[in-house]
Amino acid sequence: MAEKTVTLSFSDGTPDATFPVMESTMGPDVIDIRALYKQTGKFTYDPGFMSTASCSSTITYIDGDKGELLYRGYAIDDLAKNCDFLEVCQLLVYGELPTKEQHKKFSELIIHHTMVHEQMHFFMRGFRRDAHPMAALTGLLGAMSAFYPDSMNIHDPKVRERSAIRLIAKMPTLVAMAYKYSIGEPYIYPDNSLSYAGNVLRMMFATPCEEYKLNPVLERALDRILILHADHEQNASTSTVRLCASSGTNPIAAIAAGVASLWGPAHGGANEACLNMLNEIQEQGGVEKIGEFIEKFKDKNSGIRLMGFGHRVYRNYDPRAKLMRETCHEVLGELGLEKDPLFKLAMTLEKIALEDEYFVSRKLYPNVDFYSGIVQKAMGIPVQLFTAIFALARTVGWIAQLNEMVTDPDYKIGRPRQRFIGSTPRKVKPLSER
Ligand code: CMC
Repeated sequence: MAEKTVTLSFSDGTPDATFPVMESTMGPDVIDIRALYKQTGKFTYDPGFMSTASCSSTITYIDGDKGELLYRGYAIDDLAKNCDFLEVCQLLVYGELPTKEQHKKFSELIIHHTMVHEQMHFFMRGFRRDAHPMAALTGLLGAMSAFYPDSMNIHDPKVRERSAIRLIAKMPTLVAMAYKYSIGEPYIYPDNSLSYAGNVLRMMFATPCEEYKLNPVLERALDRILILHADHEQNASTSTVRLCASSGTNPIAAIAAGVASLWGPAHGGANEACLNMLNEIQEQGGVEKIGEFIEKFKDKNSGIRLMGFGHRVYRNYDPRAKLMRETCHEVLGELGLEKDPLFKLAMTLEKIALEDEYFVSRKLYPNVDFYSGIVQKAMGIPVQLFTAIFALARTVGWIAQLNEMVTDPDYKIGRPRQRFIGSTPRKVKPLSER
């Protein structure tokens, strides 16, 4: 079959230029414009990557119009209902769902890497106790990269696998440390007899004074939160990890860069921002005041948006939001919080926004963060820690994407171009003449 191509013609005298069109298995094909500059002396301009694929990937597929999210071809609701988080980790990192034997072996590997070096405690102690957990996590990961200089050879698959295991295993320990430190409680060491999610809950909520009783509904809910947040193709933090790691840096340091990017309220910080928004509406009168708030969300000059609504890619319902809403019901039911005013407020706000012409015409629907904050709050996870839980879940996605990049034959250090609109060359006047 003849190779598909596209020919660009220019109105400024630049000769026509022909480029290959690379086919995708799903979603738009891409025009390979790598030779554009060489052929035409021109760059393309696409801030925010609205029409630019930065890589080829086999990991995650999103159809924003259909509201579809697939990890390695499996629908997110299928995975959330039939797998645990470590199975999903294996799927993302190795490309296939594990057999029973592979799952057992992987779980054991993870369990045996959950402890962090005791010296990490000193780094934690360097933070003010009110430090944001995302600041602590960024710092702790940066520090941890110094403990593993043997991670540097990212071209060795064994080294990459070891880094993957270490990161997936140690992130919960770091997140729990950041939390325990902020409330002045002693760190709780991992317990190898528990599930991954169960261990996270215990390290966060147990104390040395009494036995910790794990609630299986909350354990399952956290596991689902982790699955839903595990990967989301080329979002800001994942692209940050890829760009950072493209220089060949220590992968743990690249994950620290991903955490920093995730922190922002337009990305992972939205769940925290969403709960703060719900609290504010509640404090100012609750359901009665929704109308006034909706007007503010629509007003560009108000400087506020309806947090937990809208998505760059989903122009239909975010499939993760549906699952999170279901989990929200389960958790609140288990804890006897069905009448929780914030949950009621969130459901009313969602209903009103979904009927409002402003949100409908812009295809703004609830995203995963709209309900994940309520679930986490009900579980006793403090608002400030929400984004750190997101980072813990996303770590596996970042690793899978980093590994994929390194093994891609088209892999190059990331180096975007720019359109320069500053001053043309000029001469420096000595200070005495300025
Ligand atoms: N509330 C009010 N208006 C909004 C909102 C919102 N939440 N989101 C978008 N709009 C409006 C925006 O003002 C613009 O209107 P107009 O066309 O009249 O200028 C239009 O909708 C398109 O918005 P945009 O900013 O061009 O869209 P984007 O794709 O660049 O932004 C977004 C996506 C997620 C940053 C944005 O929807 C937003 O700020 N949402 C609230 C924050 C949030 O919930 N973020 C979590 C994203 S999901 C978690 C993750 O995957 O990281």
